[in-house]
Amino acid sequence: MSGTLRRATAGAPSLEKLCPGLAPGSSGGGGGFPSVRPRRLRQSPAMRRLVAEVRLNPADLVLPMFVKEGLDEARPINSLPGVVQHSRDSLRRAAVEAVQAGVGGLMLFGVPTERDHCGTTDAVLNDAIADVIAEVGNDTVVMTDLCLDEFTDHGHCGILAADGTVDNDATLLRYAEMAVAQADAGAHVLGLSGMMDGQVGVVRAALDAAGHTNAVILAYAAKYASGFYGPFREAVESQLQGDRKTYQQDPANAAEALREVALDVAEGADIIMVKPALPYLDVLRQVADAVDVPVAAYQVSGEYAMVEAAAANGWINREQVMLETLIGARRAGADFVLTYWATEAASLVAAQ
Ligand code: PBG
Repeated sequence: MSGTLRRATAGAPSLEKLCPGLAPGSSGGGGGFPSVRPRRLRQSPAMRRLVAEVRLNPADLVLPMFVKEGLDEARPINSLPGVVQHSRDSLRRAAVEAVQAGVGGLMLFGVPTERDHCGTTDAVLNDAIADVIAEVGNDTVVMTDLCLDEFTDHGHCGILAADGTVDNDATLLRYAEMAVAQADAGAHVLGLSGMMDGQVGVVRAALDAAGHTNAVILAYAAKYASGFYGPFREAVESQLQGDRKTYQQDPANAAEALREVALDVAEGADIIMVKPALPYLDVLRQVADAVDVPVAAYQVSGEYAMVEAAAANGWINREQVMLETLIGARRAGADFVLTYWATEAASLVAAQ
């Protein structure tokens, strides 16, 4: 062993010089050391690349994008530095840029100028779908948020009953209408994010009846009532008072996520999602082990914002933490990740 140490340090100052008094140790006990040394596989960038268990590819990243009705030019979102509310034109340009960077898909959210009780002001989203499909529809996967919260004057993901509770079954009727309109506009994948019971089955039936048998359903199967959606509420100018705890999941529960996922798969979900990502990596792993459909993770607005804020203060290395959070979601079992960093991260990993 001392021979090995001498070889490794040949030409360098002796250990005695660097750390006076520190003598080469005795041979190790059990456990395989000194012949077993995990550090061998970490000794160079090339070696580490060779043995990496998961990788981040541009196609694993999906970019969420906001388009606001009536805007002439993109408008920054204060709590999401680097993310904007797009005009129809800037949306098309940003979509092209993302696709050129190699992202796997785009997820579109609409922000209306007017809202009503039943969330019928979703034309802005359908128009944006048609625009993006015309621009990049052959080159990427165009996804849409299928939910009412951006369009309702009360900000909930469903229709409210007279007593103020969210009416599950009435909401499903609106989801079915929206789904057909989004598929008519050309959307490839519909992201059902409302957490209503039965939403996947009802939307699948409505799509099939309208001839959209190829429209893919991405079910936000395990979506938690999370404080990490804060900046998103600014992005879509949400009118919500209160919370979504009667329909989104309790952060304490993981077995419940498996039940939600199993129900969505049984109802015909093609892809399922866990959301948020970072505080729920254990759920992601359990879900990925349990299903045989693709699994997505949504790195939500608050996850992005806290990294950007810490980086802006010089407290963390922005790019390192960005890529670490994304590879973490991949390692936990996500086949792809929705992230506001998608375009930049795709360029970074392509250059690696
Ligand atoms: C609902 C929806 C939300 C997000 C995506 N879809 C908001 C919510 O459930 O309150 C949040 C995404 C994010 O925070 O980045 N349409």
